Amino acid sequence: KRVAILISGGGSNMLALLDSMAEAGHPATPCLVASNDPEAPGLARAAARGVATGAVDHRPFGKDRAAFEAELQALIAAHDADMICLAGFMRVLTAGFVTPWSGRMINIHPSLLPKYRGLHTHARVLEAGDAEHGCTVHEVTPELDDGPILGQARVPVKPGDTPEILAARVLEMEHKLYPTVLRRFAAGDRRPVWLP
Ligand code: GRF
Repeated sequence: KRVAILISGGGSNMLALLDSMAEAGHPATPCLVASNDPEAPGLARAAARGVATGAVDHRPFGKDRAAFEAELQALIAAHDADMICLAGFMRVLTAGFVTPWSGRMINIHPSLLPKYRGLHTHARVLEAGDAEHGCTVHEVTPELDDGPILGQARVPVKPGDTPEILAARVLEMEHKLYPTVLRRFAAGDRRPVWLP
């Protein structure tokens, strides 16, 4: 399976996926790392690993999401991708982009979905006083942070946690969960992954 990975920033999840796909016998190979931000630091990190990169700056398109998504789709199609991994990709994608990729696009979200869809999940968990938190890999549907769950990983919330400390603990688990799910998903196995 040829995988296109979409990022918006540092791309730590993207790097974890690249490292995993470099292992012998992995059913997937990265064909593109692309971003909505041409300056995304993850692009240089992907290029340093010999992976093709690209960017479609979303800013010139203003509110015209469809025009931005048409460019992004063209870039992905030009690299013959079979599936997409969203990894710290911070743009909402419309049904026009998502639907043709139905069943072939997955995302990682830093919460135990269906709790805490959207942004600032770590602060919201602390605000709520939850005892545990975590991350979820799910199939992407037009509904934000919705879609069939492919895996979850749990971490404890600890006394004195700040959003930053908690985010770092979750991110570490993201780097374990996402590669585990991708390896299964790329082999056509949709059995969910539960960590630890
Ligand atoms: C992090 O907040 C992560 O939880 C979420 O996207 C953000 C950036 O991740 N998935 P990355 O380092 O760019 O993969």
